[in-house]
Amino acid sequence: MRHFHFQDGQMMAENVSLHTIADEVGTPVYVYSAATLKRHYQVFEQAISDMDALIAFSVKANSNIAVLALLAKLGAGADVVSGGELTRALMAGMPAQKIVFSGVGKTMDEMRAALEADILQFNVESMPELYALDATARALNTTARIAFRINPDVSAGGHAKITTGKAENKFGINIDQAESAYAEAASLGNIEIVGIDMHIGSQIDTLAPFKAALTKGIELIKTLRASGHNIRSYDFGGGLGIPYNEDENTPPLPALYGQMIAEATIGLDLKMIFEPGRLIAGNAGILLSKTVYVKKGSVRNFIILDAAMNDLIRPALYDAHHHIEPVTLTENGAPTQTYDIVGPVCETGDTFAKHRDLPEISAGDLIVIHSAGAYGAVQAGQYNTRPLIPEVLVSGDKYEIIRERPSVEDILKTEHIPDWV
Ligand code: LLP
Repeated sequence: MRHFHFQDGQMMAENVSLHTIADEVGTPVYVYSAATLKRHYQVFEQAISDMDALIAFSVKANSNIAVLALLAKLGAGADVVSGGELTRALMAGMPAQKIVFSGVGKTMDEMRAALEADILQFNVESMPELYALDATARALNTTARIAFRINPDVSAGGHAKITTGKAENKFGINIDQAESAYAEAASLGNIEIVGIDMHIGSQIDTLAPFKAALTKGIELIKTLRASGHNIRSYDFGGGLGIPYNEDENTPPLPALYGQMIAEATIGLDLKMIFEPGRLIAGNAGILLSKTVYVKKGSVRNFIILDAAMNDLIRPALYDAHHHIEPVTLTENGAPTQTYDIVGPVCETGDTFAKHRDLPEISAGDLIVIHSAGAYGAVQAGQYNTRPLIPEVLVSGDKYEIIRERPSVEDILKTEHIPDWV
């Protein structure tokens, strides 16, 4: 359910007009709905309520500390992939005992910080990482709780740039090497095995790949237990897709996903961990932008926005589809035009969408790019010296800037010209 809706012909975020936000905060700006974040969290929580489960929100999807604090209040933990994300999650009030640390390249500094915080578990992705973690834990005179991230060699569909569960991907321990990896881990003095972990990809829109991975995971858990390993938890990662386009096939409902997993794991006495990111945050946010110019070319019409690929890179990087519409509703039957919707950055790739039919747009019109709450602001950069854009959180009829827009001066403060230049 989305809380971006029209009222008197104007799009609102909950009870706040997007016009008001544009006027008071400026554009481009990310706008998140607290009610939608809450609702998505609770839908997922309900979907997995038959299991002993932890929801570790995948911080990479949206790492604003206000968003994390809101989710923490609802009971969420965090899946982090860097020391920076760990700091954010802790600062936002996520208990260390609900934090898992994933990623193929954890440094010893990051491991130390996570061990000092006493996080729930490390999802270990390689043998060299295991040895580094053992050594780091030994130096701190402590023990690291681990799950190996298992690469089940399952095709998850989705975009090639975000699929992770095939043997040729860089992620995890290949499933055929899992038994020897666990045997090795068991022999190390400062490692405690607690479970297994899997994350097969993102924006997955059918249950089949999850089912295939789940079956392999359960089989592995049984084998490992038979060899004497104390496997208590199964981290099943994230990856459940969301609708980006109302006309497209919609991904399976969380309830069906939850039911499938609950049925497959019944009686196994496992604590399940889930790492949803997009599902919680994706449709809880929009990118609000203003039309700078409308350019009528001889073969194309262009809406040139003040937002660009540096603000939301998904269309340029993954050919991602985002639903786009004006903030002001036009009457039914009003004439439409076909547009390419682009940003001002000097690259043809700076295109949000091609061949979209929209009502006549004029300079100054506000435009909404939907489904931008996950992998939007977090993947932004300052290409073309375009400062990072602000983030706003709406709740009911109030809103607050939860990340400020830096000035060009702020950006330049971090650079300097050596004397010898
Ligand atoms: N757990 C791990 C270990 C992950 O690597 C990811 C996402 C997740 C959980 C959360 O997956 P989700 O539930 O959000 O699908 N930037 C891309 C998506 C990259 C996903 C990376 N890993 C995009 O904009 O589509």
